[in-house]
Amino acid sequence: MPESTPKTMGQQFGRRSWAEPWKIKMVEPLAVTTREQRQKALEEAGYNTFLLRSEDVYIDLLTDSGTSAMSDRQWAGLMLGDEAYAGSRNFYRLEAAIQNIYGYKYIVPTHQGRGAEHLISQAVIKKGQIVPGNMYFTTTRLHQELAGGIFQDVIIDEAHDPANLHPFKGNVDLDKVQSIIDKYGAENIAYISVAGTVNMAGGQPISMANIKALRALCDKYGIKIYLDATRMMENAFFIQQREEGYADKTIAQIVKEFCSYTDAAWMSAKKDNLVNIGGWLAVNDWDLFEELRNLVVVYEGLHTYGGLAGRDMEAMAIGIEESVDDQHIRSRVGQVLYLGELLLSWGIPIVQPIGGHAIFLDAKAFYPHLKQVEFPAQTLAAELYLDSGIRSMERGIVSAGRDPKTGDHYYPKLELTRLTIPRRVYTQAHMDVVAEAVKAVYDARETTRGLKMVYEPKYLRFFQARFVRL
Ligand code: F0G
Repeated sequence: MPESTPKTMGQQFGRRSWAEPWKIKMVEPLAVTTREQRQKALEEAGYNTFLLRSEDVYIDLLTDSGTSAMSDRQWAGLMLGDEAYAGSRNFYRLEAAIQNIYGYKYIVPTHQGRGAEHLISQAVIKKGQIVPGNMYFTTTRLHQELAGGIFQDVIIDEAHDPANLHPFKGNVDLDKVQSIIDKYGAENIAYISVAGTVNMAGGQPISMANIKALRALCDKYGIKIYLDATRMMENAFFIQQREEGYADKTIAQIVKEFCSYTDAAWMSAKKDNLVNIGGWLAVNDWDLFEELRNLVVVYEGLHTYGGLAGRDMEAMAIGIEESVDDQHIRSRVGQVLYLGELLLSWGIPIVQPIGGHAIFLDAKAFYPHLKQVEFPAQTLAAELYLDSGIRSMERGIVSAGRDPKTGDHYYPKLELTRLTIPRRVYTQAHMDVVAEAVKAVYDARETTRGLKMVYEPKYLRFFQARFVRL
């Protein structure tokens, strides 16, 4: 049962107290377009928001990945780039920041998250091994499958229900893990793949109690736990707000404790770490580190830069330090909650509780008259762009892809359109505009037609697939 029902933003913070702990020093103009211009741009993009040009977008909520605004300290840090091929000063600074904040021993930089996923999947997964995970993420699962692994979802059932109010919908269902162990044997499990702030579940957190219990279970069988730390800071915020015993702990303390129950982590630094590009792997096991350090030179670059410039590593080190600031994370998640609560107050169907990095519109509830193969979430993303120039992302059947064995679509229970909020970029007035646009599209829902896919790439099809209106 839920430990406590999530509170509204007002109950949690008091009025206004989520306001940003920064002010704006530099601005970037936005494009304001007409409906005719947007219609043309959308047709040229094959009704896929990934194929729109950024200059045709007004408010870009495609992703929170690589879209953060850097601080003045980070920009200053760029000038301290040590662009040596080997042994850059900035690498050692980054290494120390990760060791200090996340607590792992050995660090391998990569150009972004999927570079790290590739290396760790190749290093540890043996063909045919099971990789249980608290819901899949697109690139994570693909790298696990390309390495010969078989992904199995072990998230709690509540995560698949957009209306369920469980405060930790990212939790792992230990019974599901136990039955995989019983069925296949511990030696046939590569590792447990655990994500903080589970992206595809709607940005839902996993609790400290759950990771502790998973650790105890895995210790019984000698199974490793690897963490996707991409949005771990946001997860820590929900633990602080919702889990007993953590209200007086800092984000930094919570992150350190959580990571201590895991054996290694991979990271897309483009999210929590507040940089535009970068990633890393962090492990405690020397042998695994040796293997990863060897692989990184094949695929990314030398182990002291991993596909990054020295200046990128400096900005990341500073971003990591800024990302654990309690005021920062409170305002970051506070802005997401602000938008979500506004939409809820207007009766718009969204995934609840509101997640850490995005609002997920429930496209099945928007368009009950559309079949899932008519791509309701893709349709909703297209309609939102058309209405107002707001760019969102499909997270439904298109993202789920096809079963490699049968070739049929995966039919995920969640058919969602994600409004992802970049960190430190948009204002509350922008959030109001977004909410009004969603309302306009919602009001026109009954007459909205679906889409047909006319081009489908083999891997990660959502990035480049093309559609026409039915
Ligand atoms: N893990 C999670 C949970 C992610 O959300 C992402 C990326 C990755 C790994 C891969 O990292 O993009 O640096 O290679 N998510 C982005 C998104 C693309 O929009 O949610 P990457």
